[in-house]
Amino acid sequence: MPAGMKGNENEMKIKGTGHYVPEKIVTNEDLSRIVETDDAWIISRTGIRRRHVCTAETHGELCRRAAEAAIAEAGILAEEIGACIVATVSADTIVPSAACMLQRALGLPNDIPCFDLNAACTGFLSALHVAECLLRASGRRFGLVVGCEVLSRVVNWEDRNTCILFGDGAGAAVVEWREEWPSIGAVLGCRGDDELLRLPGAGTKEPPLIAMDGAGVFRFAVEMVPRCMEEVLRKHECSADDVDFFVFHQANARIIDLIVHKYHIPQEKYYKNIAEYGNTSAASIPIVLSELKKQGRIKSGSRVLTVGFGGGMTWGGALIEFA
Ligand code: UT7
Repeated sequence: MPAGMKGNENEMKIKGTGHYVPEKIVTNEDLSRIVETDDAWIISRTGIRRRHVCTAETHGELCRRAAEAAIAEAGILAEEIGACIVATVSADTIVPSAACMLQRALGLPNDIPCFDLNAACTGFLSALHVAECLLRASGRRFGLVVGCEVLSRVVNWEDRNTCILFGDGAGAAVVEWREEWPSIGAVLGCRGDDELLRLPGAGTKEPPLIAMDGAGVFRFAVEMVPRCMEEVLRKHECSADDVDFFVFHQANARIIDLIVHKYHIPQEKYYKNIAEYGNTSAASIPIVLSELKKQGRIKSGSRVLTVGFGGGMTWGGALIEFA
């Protein structure tokens, strides 16, 4: 731990990561045949070139494949998992939850908490925080945290404002808890709002499809991401220089560009994969973490500052160390 960095009282690191995306790719060109848009507009306004979309694959299958990869990388047994949380807004079924079906698919223990968590695109970071609390309370060592979305099911394919943005995929992390380790020190927040971003449920007469005020969400992100990032640094009593890598929710390349410019974050310290996947909501941050781990850009001991934002409107950040 660098000098000046706060030794927090509790206690979690990421031990393994994994991700899985469906095979089918939908290009900007494909979308221009469905709605009035074009490749140049989508690239210049969002940075997205393509997205992966489920055909035969289920949400459950995406979760399982990402989780299996994370457990394999962590080098532990499924029986050792002490909590399982799936962050999502698009599970195959509301009951049973995706986490319960993952418990069965992976043969996780029966006597552990398994549930889904909805904080939209902030879901994975919220779930990491909850996992840390659960592991601390139970004294169990490992937790499984998955972010998974099949947004293609809830996207309005006739709305060019939204259908160009989203993609399907899953990312997972095995977390390890030890008393002597630093906490991820999560910062989570919410400004209740049902107009900027909305996915109606059974309690409304609206179609169950995503609707969004894109420019409003953009402004929200540009305001909240820096605030959240600064709050995380303050909580850990460290500066941006103490951070090895910055991982931002992949919602729009322009949002990430604005943030890295504002904080003079050098290119080798952040990553964008939005061109390939679009916005995969709760899956976006764990997919980035998994790709960076596979590329060797995040290693054992790396300290990663990650910030997300999304519907709700929610935001979250954490400083995560890799075991
Ligand atoms: O995870 C959180 C979820 N959401 C987000 O993070 C979204 C954040 N917001 C954004 O990424 C951007 O606001 C968008 C990419 C959604 C939109 O970009 P923008 O630069 O804010 O465009 P805009 O909504 O202000 O629209 C500008 C113009 C409009 O035309 P008029 O009214 O000026 O004639 C839109 O109708 O661009 C038009 N437009 C499009 N044109 C071509 C909107 N979508 C498209 C499209 N293709 N797909």
